[in-house]
Amino acid sequence: MNSTTSHELAAEPIDPTELVEERLVLWYFLAAIVSISISLLGGLLMSMQLIHWNPHDGVEYLSPGRWRMIHTNAIAYGFIANSFLGALHWAIPRLTLKKVLCRRLSYFIFAAWQVVVLSTVAGILMGHAQGVEWGETPVWIDPLAQVGLFLVAINFLTPIIRAKGPLYVSLWYFMAAFVWTFLTYAMGNFMPQYYVSGTSAGAITGLFIHDLVGLFVTPLAWGLMYYFVPILLQKPIWSHGLSLVGFWGLAFFYPLNGIHHFLLSPIPMFLQYSAIVATVAVEFVVLTVIINFFGTLWGSSRALVTNIPLRWFYTGMVCYFLTCLQCSMQVTISFQKVIHFSDWVVGHAHLVMFGVFGLWFFGMMTYLFPRLLRHPWYSRNLCEWHYWLTAVGIFVMASDLILAGLFQGYYWVSLQPWDASVNGSQPFWIVRFVAGVAIISGQICFFVNLWKTWRLARASDVESLLPNTTYGPAWTAE
Ligand code: HEM
Repeated sequence: MNSTTSHELAAEPIDPTELVEERLVLWYFLAAIVSISISLLGGLLMSMQLIHWNPHDGVEYLSPGRWRMIHTNAIAYGFIANSFLGALHWAIPRLTLKKVLCRRLSYFIFAAWQVVVLSTVAGILMGHAQGVEWGETPVWIDPLAQVGLFLVAINFLTPIIRAKGPLYVSLWYFMAAFVWTFLTYAMGNFMPQYYVSGTSAGAITGLFIHDLVGLFVTPLAWGLMYYFVPILLQKPIWSHGLSLVGFWGLAFFYPLNGIHHFLLSPIPMFLQYSAIVATVAVEFVVLTVIINFFGTLWGSSRALVTNIPLRWFYTGMVCYFLTCLQCSMQVTISFQKVIHFSDWVVGHAHLVMFGVFGLWFFGMMTYLFPRLLRHPWYSRNLCEWHYWLTAVGIFVMASDLILAGLFQGYYWVSLQPWDASVNGSQPFWIVRFVAGVAIISGQICFFVNLWKTWRLARASDVESLLPNTTYGPAWTAE
């Protein structure tokens, strides 16, 4: 691993627009936006159920249990996976100076992946969900998704393997993630279904839940941060030594964390304790990565005011730090006795999935849409509204749920009737609903801005003739 990328080794300057299939990046992002819209509706519906405002009471296909699964699956496989695939189609050819293996294959994967996402939604609505948390994709879709992940891996690994010169840290993360994701999906979706049962299946499921975050989402997301942040700040990453620690630390410790999802369960205690130790190790690893990014920001922090994509990225990093801080408490056995099964965990899930990764995707989209559409954003104000409504919304939602979890836990510890904890949760659940409305309003600003920008781009022929590197003066660091 080295700070030198293939760019610096190329004798002739290469036009990146020839390498990148920009239309596909755009399509992936649009698919991600449709998915998050459906997911947010599902989340809001579920939150309304909990405060007795469910508008579809008694409608089987719109029952909250199904919508909860659609909420989480549309986020994981629709929003997160599509955003990643779009961003990777942008970043990998630029980092390697090579095209992906096959353009047609890329389009085929795009279509096949949307079939996977839509079939998952349809399958869950019809009641075919698989009994594996985060693996609810019906069993008849699993083989298709598995083949899809294989095709994604070979399509992207080919340019990385063909790249000349030392590989930049992002490419290390990407390479590992393609292999890990394929293995993780197979483990979580096939092993508990067909081969193992009881506590062993529980242990595997815990591993699957955690590895989806740690070996699929995290390495791809950090890899993309290592790509975008130095470009936006126009300086190299602070320490390549630390980026090495981050990569190998993740590779070594993350896979050992899974069982911390099932502390105080019948899984043998020595496994639970080893997961706790590995989790503490991961927290230190994550800290090194965060220090590295803040070291890079050092001396350029004014860019956070002027550069909205950068602000999205660093807000996500603050949420990452807060998530790890929270995790350092919840991973202890004494704390688990109070917060297990409570909204503390739901707060944690929103803080990491939305507060970190969701915010990073919005940063990437804010940076890339003007380049893909070849037109600056229609309104900077709408970009600001998108940022503030979303950031404040997730902050309020996560804090509210974490606090709710503590109250719920103490209701249970004090052996009060179950109803007392449900009634005591009502004010928190109302605040969650309000925070959800704020987040959705933020997304509406984003969609309106995107629509108007797209209309302007179509209307202005002159603009569309310019190379895409000329766009977004407001978004580059000053
Ligand atoms: C309008 C905004 C949102 C609302 C109102 C909302 C609401 C909810 C609700 C009610 C649940 C079920 C909690 C339970 O079972 O007690 C849930 C679960 C979840 N949501 Fe959201 N959500 C929103 C946005 C998001 C976003 C944007 C993400 C990720 C990017 C996300 C990720 C999750 C995850 C990971 C879970 C599962 C939590 C767990 O099982 O511990 N949510 N959400």
